[in-house]
Amino acid sequence: MSLIDDLAKAKSEEDVKDAYIKALGLKQYTKGLVDIQTLEIWFESKDAPTAPILMFAQLLFYVRDARRKGESIPPLLAVIDREKAAIMETAKALPIFDDKSLEWPKSGSKADTKFAAKIAPYIEAHFVVYPIKEGEKLFIEAFKQAIQNGRPIRTPITPDNLRQVFDKWVERIGRELDGVAESDYALLFFADIMHDGKKAAMENLPARLLHDGEKPLFLLNGVTYELASERGYRQFWAIYHRPPEAEHRAYLLERRDSLLPVDERSFKGAFYTPLHIVDKAYEWLNMTLGRNWQKNYLVWDMCCGVGNLEVKHSNHRNLFMSTLDAADIDVMLASRTCAAATRFQYDYLNDDVDALGQIDYSLSNKLPLELRTAIADFKAKKKGAKKILVLINPPY
Ligand SMILES: C[S@@+](CC[C@H](N)C(=O)[O-])C[C@H]1O[C@@H](n2cnc3c(N)ncnc32)[C@H](O)[C@@H]1O
Repeated sequence: MSLIDDLAKAKSEEDVKDAYIKALGLKQYTKGLVDIQTLEIWFESKDAPTAPILMFAQLLFYVRDARRKGESIPPLLAVIDREKAAIMETAKALPIFDDKSLEWPKSGSKADTKFAAKIAPYIEAHFVVYPIKEGEKLFIEAFKQAIQNGRPIRTPITPDNLRQVFDKWVERIGRELDGVAESDYALLFFADIMHDGKKAAMENLPARLLHDGEKPLFLLNGVTYELASERGYRQFWAIYHRPPEAEHRAYLLERRDSLLPVDERSFKGAFYTPLHIVDKAYEWLNMTLGRNWQKNYLVWDMCCGVGNLEVKHSNHRNLFMSTLDAADIDVMLASRTCAAATRFQYDYLNDDVDALGQIDYSLSNKLPLELRTAIADFKAKKKGAKKILVLINPPY
């Protein structure tokens, strides 16, 4: 029976989905928030005939969500209802995610026509609609062709997400390597990312990625490390693109010394910021402030406690961390938390506030000169002055 016949008999959205699954011969798929999901393509489906742009708006909500979580996204997107189907390459929609003026709905189902109208200029020229009655064959052929040509979309490794990528690497790959010292993870991580899967993209790194057939092996100081399971390895490299862009490589390598694994158990401090909150905060910062933000902003956390909120920060050079208790600074020094950041004791509510409530940094003279100058330059609107981001989990 043809797709159009199955659709004519469909009594629910579930039947519509099943009709397409059968007609397209989908084997490995899941159904869930994304209506039908395979590695190569995600579908949004509706029972009633619906505007394709509205369905794409909902689907893009899930794509954005997956990207923010560092999960893999498929090369193709499709929307289907009982009358028509449309396909689009995911890559064509990616510029939408850079539009800071777009207000995204709270959930996929809340993507309405108003929101769809805003994203329409980005994508309406990039999808092809197939009315199933007239174009069933054409649609199925186009689908198969697109699947054959579709290349997976992977997240690049950049100075801004380095720390997050490293933590995920430790979790999924590093922990599968038996007998590796915590301090060596960063060396193996760089051997892995500075490789395109076939050959190294950088010479003379302390550790090397080798292959025994398809099986990855790591070599460090004459010792070979094997993965207990390759599952995490395959999953990880289905999400990220390697090697990083040539322009970032040297800069990323410089960050190597700051990369020691963190996990929740090593979090200290009376009111510490939990790791999943830190992860979320950095996801939002990456999205809101855009590419290279860690290079362009000085960051000051003036109630940093023992520094957990910054453990996902990749560029410690631009990081100032101060807190009330000197003992917390000692903990940071001893645990080498954000080792290259400027860390100092400071009471931001009292130390430099004069009798009239004005701030005068010469009262305590505790603020590092670089930060004082940066604040003064910014206030004076001096050309080239760096922007300053106050990043805190406040005490009160
Ligand atoms: C909610 S905690 C933030 C913890 C930190 N982000 C972490 O994960 O360790 C607030 C911190 O602010 C510090 N604090 C309280 N009053 C302060 C003040 N006046 N100046 C500087 N730090 C202060 C507290 O000691 C505490 O470590």
